[in-house]
Amino acid sequence: MPEVRTIEWIGDESGYVRLIDQTLLPTAVVYRDCHTVEEIWEAIRLLRVRGAPAIGVAAAMGLVLGMKSFREDQGASYRQRLVQVADYLRSSRPTAVNLFWAIDRLVRVVAHRVDQDPPRQLTRRLLAEALAIEAEDRAMCRAIGQAGAALVGEGDGVLTHCNAGGLATADYGTALAVLFRAAELGRRFHVFADETRPLLQGARLTTWELQQRGIDVTLICDNMAAQVMKEGRVQLVLVGADRIAANGDTVNKIGTYGLAVLAQAHGIPFYVAAPSSTFDLSLARGADIPIEQRDPREVTHGFGRQTAPDGIKVYNPAFDVTPASLITGIITERGIIRPVTVEHIQRTLGGPAD
Ligand code: MRU
Repeated sequence: MPEVRTIEWIGDESGYVRLIDQTLLPTAVVYRDCHTVEEIWEAIRLLRVRGAPAIGVAAAMGLVLGMKSFREDQGASYRQRLVQVADYLRSSRPTAVNLFWAIDRLVRVVAHRVDQDPPRQLTRRLLAEALAIEAEDRAMCRAIGQAGAALVGEGDGVLTHCNAGGLATADYGTALAVLFRAAELGRRFHVFADETRPLLQGARLTTWELQQRGIDVTLICDNMAAQVMKEGRVQLVLVGADRIAANGDTVNKIGTYGLAVLAQAHGIPFYVAAPSSTFDLSLARGADIPIEQRDPREVTHGFGRQTAPDGIKVYNPAFDVTPASLITGIITERGIIRPVTVEHIQRTLGGPAD
């Protein structure tokens, strides 16, 4: 498979970010170089880079871009500029917690040195932390694949939604990592990929990634999932996550909740795959997680053609909440949380990785 790099930092602390423009996939593989924090903000907002862990890496690198141009004569201190750039990046998208987690992590790493170290040294520290987040994400994705691979049985049909693959992470993915690892272990199975209205991450990205790796995949429209389950073609539902509350309620791409209800109705196990960086233990329940509302034109003018009358009212939440009670298990880099309870989540995330 040709090496596809979701996002990378080029050069030293005065360098820049190169990311694959996911809005152009699958028909064009185009890399975009971002030299400013504004370009990263735009790339996150427009979903050129998307998927919770990849957004976290992009935000971390964006913070470095925002600070590399800092000069003492600009009228603000390094600390003031850091707060400004961090707040700006936090405003790009509200739901995926990895974005906030990554920014907080970078800010913490320089907070105690900001008044004594020279700016260039501070920015070098920020870059080292951003690169560490990227490297850790790669490792976590591999570990998730390993932890979940046994859930995919020989000959199974697996339904997935949105894109939780290498494109949504630094590399290899979360939900798709489980499938990639199962395939590497020689397991034969079949994947149904939901199209994922309105922005078609399933159709454009997931089928592309699976096809690249030679995994048997069939694309279905979102409203076909119930029928495909009823026909007995699905033995496992596997999705990613954008934020998981302390009780296991999981926010993921709009449509995930419906799939969980359908899975329960058909007696099919429903698994979420996510790294520990996607948990937000500060929020007790899924209802506390902010849900991004997106431009109505994504629904009325999808991909360049108007498909609804002028002036029509549109509701376009980008995510929904799946209650923990509908989730069979959460596959993390530290093992599988099953059953999904507050205690089990704390035990799995609280201790050192196995
Ligand atoms: O709006 P998106 O494309 O950023 O939404 C992405 C998802 O919902 C993914 O399923 C989630 O981030 C998991 S990525 C490993």
